[in-house]
Amino acid sequence: MLDDLVDLKTITSLCKRRGFLFQSSEIYGGLASTWDYGPLGVELKNNIKTSWWKNFVWSRNDIVGLDSAILMHPDVWKVSGHVENFSDPLVDCISCRKRWREDQLESKSCPDCGGALTDVRQFNLMFETNMGPIKDDNSNVYLRPETAQGIFVNFENVMKSMRLKLPFGIAQLGKAFRNEITTGNFIFRTREFEMMEIEYFVNPENDQRVYDQWVTDFMNWYKNLGMDTDKLRIREHDKGELAHYAKATSDIEYQFPWGWGEIQGIANRTDYDLQAHSKQTGQKLSYFDEKLSKHIVPYVIEPSAGVDRIFMAILLDSYQEEVVSSINGKSDTRIVLKLTPELAPIKVAVLPLSRKDVLSDLATQIYKDIKSSAVTTGVVEYDDSQSIGKRYRRQDEIGTPICVTIDFDSLDDKCVTLRFRDTMEQIRIPISDLIEQIRLNLNNG
Ligand code: GAP
Repeated sequence: MLDDLVDLKTITSLCKRRGFLFQSSEIYGGLASTWDYGPLGVELKNNIKTSWWKNFVWSRNDIVGLDSAILMHPDVWKVSGHVENFSDPLVDCISCRKRWREDQLESKSCPDCGGALTDVRQFNLMFETNMGPIKDDNSNVYLRPETAQGIFVNFENVMKSMRLKLPFGIAQLGKAFRNEITTGNFIFRTREFEMMEIEYFVNPENDQRVYDQWVTDFMNWYKNLGMDTDKLRIREHDKGELAHYAKATSDIEYQFPWGWGEIQGIANRTDYDLQAHSKQTGQKLSYFDEKLSKHIVPYVIEPSAGVDRIFMAILLDSYQEEVVSSINGKSDTRIVLKLTPELAPIKVAVLPLSRKDVLSDLATQIYKDIKSSAVTTGVVEYDDSQSIGKRYRRQDEIGTPICVTIDFDSLDDKCVTLRFRDTMEQIRIPISDLIEQIRLNLNNG
């Protein structure tokens, strides 16, 4: 390991070179701070989302999923407080006209040119658009800035249709949009991003205990994703920093190259949202407690995470440069993404040593067998280009845990070489044991 601190430029360049992320509309000169996930990026991103869903929906019996629409009735955002409160303080530089978030400035002058700044105005972060062919005040709708409201307005539907008993949760992941004043640090702060949110409804008496439990559960999830726990911390919000709906919030922060940054918040939203929607619509959004024989409006504990920020933290965290000795005795540096097998975009790479038909026939058969075997729930890649050394380096750089190499001896001894990313160890095994070996190594990795 050469250096523990990976800079952003290194990761940005790896992302482009290897097909994780591209700038949006690049051939048109790009659109500021919007990004497209490439073939490997979408795999890694889906693996993060699947892990979240697996851990917090499939493996529990108290949480169900939801996929609500991005566009909602505009009153939802008035009642939730977003129209009035979801804003950041904006200032303009009088000289160079650059815009800044006043709460992020260290002095009262423009960080770029030192010019004087305008008075603070509150700038609402919600994107507005119009529904239907006529653009007027009655056709205004918002792109959701959080997925949570889709859950609150469906509280009754989900609880009744699924016959849920307190405590229970509703999980949702999907796109959210915020017209941020300042964006940047690659995909850390963008205007379009993806969220993974759980609204966990509890008896108000139990709010603190459940809140603490969610903080612990999520720290454990990040640990299981293979993240370095020294680079994670929990930070409680001061009273003045709390969102308009929150009684308490803890952020889980990651140590990014520029400092600590939030990847997830866990908030106690109390009964703020259910009460507000109930009052506005006249619908009873409560839970009937049979034991107590009374209606209660549950409190909500909300673990809310940003997929893109977790994606970036995982890339930074798994990136390593290692000095290795090459075949000619010289030392060389290899780049490795030490992703867990669960997160790796490509699970297994099949690498025939040559393109000759006899070898490619066997390699193709092995490739098909691995793909259809169900030991790998993800991409298996076939690569017969370049030297084997270069192919190993590429697979290391994109985090593939296992390579299977087929050589001319394989035709006679019916064996192949398994090569492991982290140790670079190579073992020769019979083709008949291959699927079981892959299964063992992917599950234990
Ligand atoms: N419903 C709660 C809520 O929206 P939040 O702290 O504003 O809470 C949750 O957002 C998560 O969404 C954050 O922890 C962060 O990971 C992610 N996030 C928020 N704004 C973002 C942005 N502009 N770009 C990328 N991710 C963002």
